[in-house]
Amino acid sequence: MSLKETIDQRLAEHLKTRYADEHAVRKLSQHFRREGYVKLPGLVSEDLFQEVSTEVHRLLDLHEKRIDIQLAETGNSPRYMSTISQQAIAKDSELIPAIYESQALMDFLSRLAAQPVLQCPWEEEKYIAIRQHKKGDTHGWHWGDFSFTVIWIIEAPDAKYGGQLQCVPHTDWNKEDPRVEEYLQAHPIRTWGHVTGDLYFLRSDTTLHRTIPLNADKTRIILNTCWGSESDSKKEATHETMHAMFD
Ligand SMILES: [Fe+2]
Repeated sequence: MSLKETIDQRLAEHLKTRYADEHAVRKLSQHFRREGYVKLPGLVSEDLFQEVSTEVHRLLDLHEKRIDIQLAETGNSPRYMSTISQQAIAKDSELIPAIYESQALMDFLSRLAAQPVLQCPWEEEKYIAIRQHKKGDTHGWHWGDFSFTVIWIIEAPDAKYGGQLQCVPHTDWNKEDPRVEEYLQAHPIRTWGHVTGDLYFLRSDTTLHRTIPLNADKTRIILNTCWGSESDSKKEATHETMHAMFD
């Protein structure tokens, strides 16, 4: 059996047992659709998470690149962090692409999304990794180009050092006129904290989100895996912010 088949089988078996309760899954789906966010500890087994964590650390050693930029398409919000591109991961990892392509995983995420979750139509947004480690590091307010994202919290600092996710769900990204401040003033901002080993599912295209800047030199590492919706596969997307961060 190929690694891809083995991983799909491991995920299928895990998800079947972990989410055997239909009503519990429905509640997670409702939370996701209401908040644009749902925490999913146990989405993968502890063993598999550990394998991914080791892989991300190995890839960081090989490929990470520092960026310190502000992006006009999201109202000049900052990106202060180190990144690993999709191409670098695809080149040096078999495990992460295998998980990403798992039909069992996409089928489960489709139940939560209450619509089909499909591979991202743009190769370079499928999986990327980010390390924040300096005081002030932040992934400033933004939206994603595609609908569905799972974030793997490879390493989270203690809550008192920042790094939490903040969300304003049910907002739309107009790249010519993002109106970020207007959305922040008009709607409540939810803040979600995480610990190492957490995973969460984010409605990335219609949830304005950011991470709270680190207030000390502490480490926050994530793997970002992103899928698309049926409508994403039909739309003409542009990728300014991703090009700025990963090229
Ligand atoms: Fe994001």
